[in-house]
Amino acid sequence: MIYDLARGALFALDAELAHELTLTALARMPRLAAAAFAARAPDDPVEILGLQLKNRVGLAAGLDKNGVAIEAFQRMGFGFVEVGTVTPRPQPGNPKPRMFRLAQHEALINRLGFNNHGVDALLPKLRAVRGRVPVGVNIGKNFDTPIEHAGDDYEHCLRKVYPHAAYVTVNISSPNTRNLRDLQGAEHLGGLLRQLAFVRDALAQDSGRRVPLLVKIAPDLSTEELRALAETARECGMDGIIATNTTIQRPGLRDTPLAAEVGGLSGAPVKPLALAALRAVRAAVGRDYPLIGVGGIVAGADARERREAGADLVQVYTGFIYRGPALVADCARAMAARVH
Ligand code: FNR
Repeated sequence: MIYDLARGALFALDAELAHELTLTALARMPRLAAAAFAARAPDDPVEILGLQLKNRVGLAAGLDKNGVAIEAFQRMGFGFVEVGTVTPRPQPGNPKPRMFRLAQHEALINRLGFNNHGVDALLPKLRAVRGRVPVGVNIGKNFDTPIEHAGDDYEHCLRKVYPHAAYVTVNISSPNTRNLRDLQGAEHLGGLLRQLAFVRDALAQDSGRRVPLLVKIAPDLSTEELRALAETARECGMDGIIATNTTIQRPGLRDTPLAAEVGGLSGAPVKPLALAALRAVRAAVGRDYPLIGVGGIVAGADARERREAGADLVQVYTGFIYRGPALVADCARAMAARVH
């Protein structure tokens, strides 16, 4: 109810401005915001990736890139929260406008381009994390780092966030950083993932704490590419896969002028692609490999369907913008029921 009122006001504004105002409010008043907005999510404790989660629903990366409102999101009922993408150095991202609301489709198109304050600015936010809702960190490369040196950027971020992250996501699937998605191909993938797994193993040895590494993939790959990617990720020591990021396709948006905007599409239209990618990955990796389903989950039934398709956990972004915190409770409830 309160979210419906707030949404009405926010949707009258430019999409990115509304986003920034909301994050600022949540950062300043985490308790108040959460008390006003939180819907009761049922307890459905689960242990996965060595983490104890109170439910299976997480906040997807990109909503709180700089970790400014972690406490507020922890209080909104999420079982886990992913911050980032962060890059080694701060960067402004692409020129504005770069985020577009396709309200009739419950969708967004963004070409933000990893705008973020850099990994060093995130560290104090991570150090301040309290509470029992784990916080994962999504890492990427700076836009001007050549693709041959991408591994250095990921390694830099991994080393910095390692002591504070519940898990780390290797984002090789955002469409708004030139060539980034090439890292998903055979030429680069094995080398990159082996390098990061090697560093992680050394950090685990030194610290006595092994932080899970996940890979986040695009929905725009063929079944064959997905299979190869999933097998490589597993062989190279990744602990799980997040499927999927935004799509560069425009399914079902023929009569929507904003569909012509360049960028990644998220929300309801991406659902069939993300679901198919999840199924293909699950088929490739077998039963007992952690998978997180994300993309177009806008109702509890979508989360349930993702679970039945093989997702251990789900994440939401665009659905959360349109439906608010009630979506978290709906999804948690839908996923708590037994899967046949
Ligand atoms: C994203 N997403 C994203 N993902 C990521 O790994 N790093 C990032 O920085 C971002 N940034 C970002 C910004 C905006 C405005 C959107 C809408 C999305 C992708 C996001 O985490 C998710 O994978 C997709 O949006 C699909 O899920 P939804 O939005 O359909 O629930």
